[in-house]
Amino acid sequence: MTTTGEQWKQIESDYYMQVVNRMPMVLDHAEGTCVYDTDGKRYLDFTAGWAVLNIGHSHPAVTKAIQEQAGKIMQMSNLFYTIPQLKLAQILIDNSVMDRVFFCNSGAEANEGVCKLARKYGKIKKNGANEIITANNSFHGRTMGMMAATGQAHYQDNWRPLAPGFVNVDYDDIDAIKAATNDKTCAVMLEPVQGEGGVNVPAPDYFKQVRAWCDENDLLLILDEVQTGMGRTGTLWAYEQEGIEPDIMSVAKALASGLPIGAMLAKEEVASHLVPGDHGTTFGANPVTCAAGVATLREILDNGVLAAGRRASERFVGRLRSMEDRFENVTEVRGRGMILAINLDAEVSADVVAQCREKGLLVNNVRPDAIRFMPPLTVSDDEIDRACDILEEVLSGL
Ligand SMILES: Cc1ncc(COP(=O)(O)O)c(C=O)c1O
Repeated sequence: MTTTGEQWKQIESDYYMQVVNRMPMVLDHAEGTCVYDTDGKRYLDFTAGWAVLNIGHSHPAVTKAIQEQAGKIMQMSNLFYTIPQLKLAQILIDNSVMDRVFFCNSGAEANEGVCKLARKYGKIKKNGANEIITANNSFHGRTMGMMAATGQAHYQDNWRPLAPGFVNVDYDDIDAIKAATNDKTCAVMLEPVQGEGGVNVPAPDYFKQVRAWCDENDLLLILDEVQTGMGRTGTLWAYEQEGIEPDIMSVAKALASGLPIGAMLAKEEVASHLVPGDHGTTFGANPVTCAAGVATLREILDNGVLAAGRRASERFVGRLRSMEDRFENVTEVRGRGMILAINLDAEVSADVVAQCREKGLLVNNVRPDAIRFMPPLTVSDDEIDRACDILEEVLSGL
């Protein structure tokens, strides 16, 4: 007997910790930009598994790599050499300004690692300096440490006391970073574009100013590229568009097209402060996950995905801007590449998301008055047009 969607929802309600208000449908399968529920209804997924499926759902090259690797060797301790992690390390280092990488399992875990690295640097090079400046409206994950790094009361208030050593200041405000810097500061950690905070793009010279301040004060610049990385903003890494190089960066989400992975990357002069025993993980750098990562990066780098994503973004932004011109309730279009948002003139984004979903489009109410779009970079022109038609229908009925 087949379990129905309604029965699955009852099981969730009876057994699962109730930490999320789920969407009403039970998903069954997916392909490219589309997901299908247990009733066979198709949705255009402009959330891409939360900025994870940059080359679409179940990409054939990734699926093949996973299947082949799963039958070969699936897991060993990092005490042993395994090949997929070394291939993935090579591709990442060859295609970034970083010198060394360490793989883990998620964005939050990558950020825990980068903060440990910054503290070790502070301990050895800066007389024990251990404070990290982060931004208000940031999002760095939900571990005990990253709740303190994440400058949003909503993620902090129920779990005080927060881990010490993090100072939250306003984003896109160099003077706020300067004012927060003291003898104990070892690093500044920022997202190139704030994703969960509402798709906030800083002023064009902000990162150059932050880089200069970090250089003058021997502070490490950590970029959290968990959401912006892997082509989401139009270049493989968002820092490329800022004309700066970070000292450390974290990556996760799209790196293995849906298998759980995170990575911290650093320049040699920073990475060299970690020694055997300082850090580790059981599952991180798992051969299957890393084989998926290799297939993902090869697809992005070898098959024109970045250029395709930029072209798709142009088309999408063009349609969103025409909505801004024609609909009074659209007050702003913002973002970069395929991390985009529209601002609305009222707090109706939950309603817009629900109506879009009914019509077969999945988007995110990133703020009460803002809708975020993060489709695969491989989204087709037809899919963009269909999504925009749905959105226009909903906006005109508000
Ligand atoms: C910028 C950024 N950093 C870190 C994280 C946390 O990643 P994870 O959910 O994999 O722990 C997220 C997740 O949305 C993110 O957007």
